[in-house]
Amino acid sequence: MKARINLSADRTLSPIDDRLYSSFVEHMGRAIYTGIYEPGHPSADENGFRQDLIKWIKPLNLSYIRYPGGNFLSGYNWKDGIGNKADRPVRRDLAWFAIEPNQVGVNEFVSWCRKLGAEPMLGVNLGTGTPAEATELLEYCNVAGGTALSDLRRSHGWEKPHNVRLWCLGNEMDGPWQICGKTAQEYARIAHETAKMMKWMDPSIELVACGSSNREMPTFGEWERTVLRSCWEDVDYLSLHSYYKDLDFDSPSFLSCGEQMDGFIKEVAGICAQIKQELKSEKDVYLSFDEWNVWYHFQRDKKEPEKWTFPRAIEEEEYNFLDALAVGSIITTLINNSDTVKISCLAQLVNVLAPIMTVPGGPAWVQTTYWPFLHACTYGRGKALKLDTESPVYNCKAMDTVPYLSSAAVLSEDGRYVTLFLVNKSLDEEMRLIFSGIGGKMAEWISMEGYSIYDINTAEGSTVLPTKKPLCDLNETVLSAASWNVIRVEL
Ligand code: AHR
Repeated sequence: MKARINLSADRTLSPIDDRLYSSFVEHMGRAIYTGIYEPGHPSADENGFRQDLIKWIKPLNLSYIRYPGGNFLSGYNWKDGIGNKADRPVRRDLAWFAIEPNQVGVNEFVSWCRKLGAEPMLGVNLGTGTPAEATELLEYCNVAGGTALSDLRRSHGWEKPHNVRLWCLGNEMDGPWQICGKTAQEYARIAHETAKMMKWMDPSIELVACGSSNREMPTFGEWERTVLRSCWEDVDYLSLHSYYKDLDFDSPSFLSCGEQMDGFIKEVAGICAQIKQELKSEKDVYLSFDEWNVWYHFQRDKKEPEKWTFPRAIEEEEYNFLDALAVGSIITTLINNSDTVKISCLAQLVNVLAPIMTVPGGPAWVQTTYWPFLHACTYGRGKALKLDTESPVYNCKAMDTVPYLSSAAVLSEDGRYVTLFLVNKSLDEEMRLIFSGIGGKMAEWISMEGYSIYDINTAEGSTVLPTKKPLCDLNETVLSAASWNVIRVEL
């Protein structure tokens, strides 16, 4: 089959916010304990953090890492995680039915994050927590000194303020699974009051309000409108979350996840535009897609470990080649919506729904989905370009008229390269590309192709890897069936 792509280096959609390339680490499963933190591991540093992960995390050049949750956030008292480690309480975490020893808290996390060159995106608990506790955490983190809580931080060994710029006002507060979940009105009110207090404490911060937990929530739409009407002037971003599944082994439907996400983003952006107009506001609220990924293997295989164990190894997905194609497709959607989506977090980073895995006491290794994410983090910075594409389409259970081609294009910061991110979602037919509007020569072509859709990588060895393809004239490009492609064009 054939697809046409028209693009030009001077038809810009939007500068891409660096924060599009962010991730997430929650106190959940083995993300923290025996994930990023394992004192006694041969690679652990003096603070107990595994250094063997740096090899995999650092090349991602992550902009922000969200912490400490997730659902965990809604039952978390941040004061449990500060001060002398031996004195910290061990608690039951009601979000994930696990034991939380509190050996990692805000100080350790912020130091770890900054060591990786990333910024922390912290959440405040609006489940069991109060606006006062949220504002106290901000004082503890961002005030230089001379107040009770900033001096407490200094006494704990962090002399300089953490200067955390980006904060989430709770997490998925509409979810019945959430500890102390809220109605839209309840959340709108507490988010507004917390935002006011936090911005009075530190006006330089930016805030993310909770949108719906996903597009299928019964209150989706109404929730967004209620929250935005109450918080519009106080917050900077509205959150979106989405996890895509292939529970029924229906690959064509699963591979429409990029298109499903596109619809979701456009709908929420439309709601923001509507509320801005209604309130006659001068300011904007942008979107923070602060949880996205593929998530179904663990649910399908139902490997629930016993409750109240530590570490409780949950949601350790085994990602296959099909999942890598889905992640590639999602990435094209995020780039193509970078005019409204300013932050996005691959959820999560280590062990839980993660591209990077660890063996306790053993090696760290990467899953199939690591590679498209790495490619986007490496070549996806600069300006998103407008694309006009014509692709053959298919119908599936999830949607009608899904294009076989997912595509996005990014002009590099130095203006010398256009990088095309392309997924051929047809599982059995290759795709010839016909370009117009763009000159230049192909400088690099990285591809993931030729695997069975169920191939996986394991701690013992990686089968599913990217390879370099021979260069060709742009108009001789043929994408293999079921392939992820990164084509760099030198202008
Ligand atoms: O990322 C895993 C969980 O998914 C998060 O804790 C929650 O916010 C979402 O439901």
